[in-house]
Amino acid sequence: MEIVKSITLLDDVLNAFRKKGKTIGLVPTMGALHEGHAALVKRCVVENDIAAVSVFVNPTQFNNPEDLRLYPRTLDADCALLEKLGVDVVFAPDVDEMYPEPDTRVFDFGMLDKVMEGRFRPGHFNGVAQIVSKLFYAVKPDKAYFGEKDFQQLAIIREMVKQLQIPVEIIAVPIVREQSGLALSSRNMRLTPQQRETASEIFKTLEMSADLIEKQSVEDVKKFVVNRINNHDALSVEYFEIVDGETLQAIFDWTDSQYIVGCIAVFCGEVRLIDNIRYK
Ligand code: PAF
Repeated sequence: MEIVKSITLLDDVLNAFRKKGKTIGLVPTMGALHEGHAALVKRCVVENDIAAVSVFVNPTQFNNPEDLRLYPRTLDADCALLEKLGVDVVFAPDVDEMYPEPDTRVFDFGMLDKVMEGRFRPGHFNGVAQIVSKLFYAVKPDKAYFGEKDFQQLAIIREMVKQLQIPVEIIAVPIVREQSGLALSSRNMRLTPQQRETASEIFKTLEMSADLIEKQSVEDVKKFVVNRINNHDALSVEYFEIVDGETLQAIFDWTDSQYIVGCIAVFCGEVRLIDNIRYK
């Protein structure tokens, strides 16, 4: 496995493979890898001749400097895991390599980034689009893999690829959960064992809400979820929206869409967790 830090070197390594007609898959990550990332990487390894993984904590997508400072950085352990998983190339640039000068691009995603994460984390998706487009230009992957936990991010990346006409296939990989149901996230590392247990109530509640759809109104299901989670002292719901899975706009009646997803963000102490459930 090659670990490269510069775009020039990455280009050399990948061009050699491309000349031999090899297909390249990319898993973009911010490191602190867990089983959720491993699921993306395993698919990437199986579906491509060459599997590349980027590890880069992207400053432009953090709207909270403290969150950026506290984001776990575990490159050595990440590389050890990636080697075991059969990855060929790890791209681990530093900030100056990806941003030799400030990226002033402003994307227009219409209503896609005005709701949910976009509403509570202004500028976040613009930063995601900046870095993911730079990674796509650097790696030129045939396929790129993203987790469904970041449901809105997936929609934004698909839209960005369409707008910039980048020839890459975006593959969505299902959420990996702990046995308790808690969606795997690098942020879970910051939870105490007690908080981790309480945080599993998030998905338990989402699952319970799935039994209520079409029996109760959209509004009542939303109230059920928010109230049940907020009843736990350690948990505080930031938003819970029931949306059309493509436009990400709120629905008001179960007949409003054929593809409905519930998306949630919850603070567990200081740690912000997101999750989602497909209702239909
Ligand atoms: O999902 C993530 O880990 C990040 O948002 C991504 C896609 C690697 C961009 O920094």
